[in-house]
Amino acid sequence: MHLPTYQEAKTMDKKNYEKKEFFLNPKLVHRYHGTYHLKTYGCQMNEHDSENIKAMLEELGFTQVDDYEKADVVLLNTCSIRENANNKAFGMLGRLKHLKDENKDIVVGLCGCMAQEEKVIHDILEKYQWINFVVGTHNLYQLPEIIAKVLESKEQQIEVFSREQDLVESLPVKRDNPYSAYVNIIYGCDKFCTYCIVPYTRGRQRSRAKEDILKEVHQLIKDGYQEVILLGQNVNAYGKDLNDNYDLATLLEEIAKTTIPRIRFVTSHPWDFTKEMIEVISKYDNICPSIHLPVQSGSNKVLKLMGRRYTKEQYIALFDELKKKKKNCAISTDIIVGFPNESDEEFQDTLDLVDYCQFDNAFTFIYSPRYGTPAAKMKDNISKEVKEARLQKLNEKVNQYFLKNNQALIGKTVDVLVMGKSEKKDGLFYGYTDTMKLINFKGENENIGKIVSVKVLDAKTWSLDGEIANG
Ligand code: 5AD
Ligand code: SF4
Repeated sequence: MHLPTYQEAKTMDKKNYEKKEFFLNPKLVHRYHGTYHLKTYGCQMNEHDSENIKAMLEELGFTQVDDYEKADVVLLNTCSIRENANNKAFGMLGRLKHLKDENKDIVVGLCGCMAQEEKVIHDILEKYQWINFVVGTHNLYQLPEIIAKVLESKEQQIEVFSREQDLVESLPVKRDNPYSAYVNIIYGCDKFCTYCIVPYTRGRQRSRAKEDILKEVHQLIKDGYQEVILLGQNVNAYGKDLNDNYDLATLLEEIAKTTIPRIRFVTSHPWDFTKEMIEVISKYDNICPSIHLPVQSGSNKVLKLMGRRYTKEQYIALFDELKKKKKNCAISTDIIVGFPNESDEEFQDTLDLVDYCQFDNAFTFIYSPRYGTPAAKMKDNISKEVKEARLQKLNEKVNQYFLKNNQALIGKTVDVLVMGKSEKKDGLFYGYTDTMKLINFKGENENIGKIVSVKVLDAKTWSLDGEIANG
């Protein structure tokens, strides 16, 4: 049994990472015949991990079911970014406990960021002994063996390394989307923003070798994918740990020179955004004009307390440069309200920044103290009611700009990667513009999986309506 400790997770000594190839013991291949249900919480990195988990479980012989009550193995791929993410997973565990009371043979496991939380593991050891296994983010590749051990020994297995281990390549993957593919380029984060638990749960930054990334992209092109989404907690730090003068700019350029029609990348930390990156983004049309650039706050004092390493003025300079250089660039952001002791004036600075930037999309959150982070130790005098009112005010403002930006597209023709038939709107198809806007439109079956021109007819806050453009 390995248990996580934050003390160890926090250590920042340089370490050389070995590259390791995933290997599944041939004895385990299709050894089992049951069903599994996987629930995924959180970000795109978790969604992509789930694509690996599904493939590993299917190599063991399990088949996926939508109804968790019908599954032999139920796995929760958890998120711990805010307290309500933890609460959701604990709520699901409550439901699974009932199921387990009725059928003790069901295997329940937990992985993802919560598995790396020291406090969560202590709770599991004390109060959730019925959970069959916990596997951490650093050793997810061991999942097949851990499940095999559980099935054979019936003993609880908790394997969570405190710190990142080797970088594992060639994990099997069962992709959810046949046209758009996630590609990890960097794991972990070294920024240690004072509110954020990610550096503790995902470890320090480790970049994948460029050869492995390019190999994956070439394979995706062969498989007919139209889009790659390069993933990392902070993709702009790509290569910093490799010391070979290869960074996000050079990686993006190399990928842009392939025939992949669309390239996206998330998430960008403004501090690591270089001029070279902006040049490359501006130069290639297959790099989508859509950048997710979290600002978090418009107040310099709050930004400093958050440990974000930039001022409002520096953020705006970067924002302006991107807008100037990259044609029709849509910029989205993340904003936290109610950071400890955020004053009315400081909140107003955030509103003013939103008025300036007029973001195309924004994910807004109330600050949530995360155990073990520096901000969680800050005394906070702002009430929950004030924070909720601020969030509401902020949401009203960001929504106005989403609508305004969408309305500006009415009458224009946009390129859309068509994902399929709309589930909600009968007879319509849906897809995403290169600026990441959802559009429902009148089209044909044959449009699915292709990039087509669509004329925008109407705009709402969260989506556009259109029809296939003639000629
Ligand atoms: N409380 C609220 N929001 C948070 N985020 C990260 N940590 C916290 C926290 N403790 C938000 C940030 C980040 C996004 C992924 O989640 O805005 O960019
Ligand atoms: Fe968290 Fe900051 Fe790293 Fe983003 S950059 S994952 S907010 S520590």
